[in-house]
Amino acid sequence: MRVVVLTGAGISAESGIPTFRGKDGLWNKYDPHELASLDAFVKDPKLVWEWYDWRRQLIAKAKPNRGHEILARMEKEIEDFWTITQNVDGLHQRAGSQRVVELHGNIWKVRCMSCKREFYEYRTPLPEIPPKCECGGLLRPGVVWFGESLPMDALQKAYDLSESADVFLVVGTSAQVYPAAELPLIAKRSGSKLIEVNPEETPISPYADVVVREKASTGLEKVAEDILNI
Ligand code: OAD
Repeated sequence: MRVVVLTGAGISAESGIPTFRGKDGLWNKYDPHELASLDAFVKDPKLVWEWYDWRRQLIAKAKPNRGHEILARMEKEIEDFWTITQNVDGLHQRAGSQRVVELHGNIWKVRCMSCKREFYEYRTPLPEIPPKCECGGLLRPGVVWFGESLPMDALQKAYDLSESADVFLVVGTSAQVYPAAELPLIAKRSGSKLIEVNPEETPISPYADVVVREKASTGLEKVAEDILNI
């Protein structure tokens, strides 16, 4: 049985990392086009890096929560279990998940605008803002910005997994951002059972076979015990 989970910012909310939309969401306080786009970065790399450095520090202090831990346990107990995430915080991996597909990159990765070298930079706060590559080029965060395409290999893997899932879990995403938002529908169309865990209604809810209107921690506990019997 292939079980695939798609996660969004909601799974990290209980670790104290703010989500993007909703009352306390980041996009309520900040304009994404001024902070999370290539135009913004070219215009003011220092401002963009200060915002990412702040988020990196927040994430560095955060710990994986019960929701991340339950998914890591599911991966151990279910032979064919995969996590597709829109999150850039790396908390799934810190909780022990290994089969993780990162659709929107990773906040600990940096990429040189000149030589294109990509590597992990874990120092936080960064010693220099904006950070520079050994080649002298400007480094950018290794995340996907508005208007940019998703990494091809991750996206292809996500499509393949969604098409071949027997059970597809959607946890903590508002399902507003494409192409991630279409993955649950691809899974459903391909015959998968669709389960949603989210305290709020989303555009996925009408298509879900099971809706668990709870936070990720308690909701996933129920899914693991009642639905997947593990
Ligand atoms: P959103 O902020 O859009 O949505 C968060 C979802 O989590 C909402 O549906 C909430 O109801 C739900 N939620 C809140 N607390 C929760 C909890 N404790 N347990 C479970 N669910 C909870 O975040 P995403 O859908 O991840 O893109 O946003 C998608 C993308 O938009 C992000 O990856 C980011 C952003 O712009 C990029 O940076 C490219």
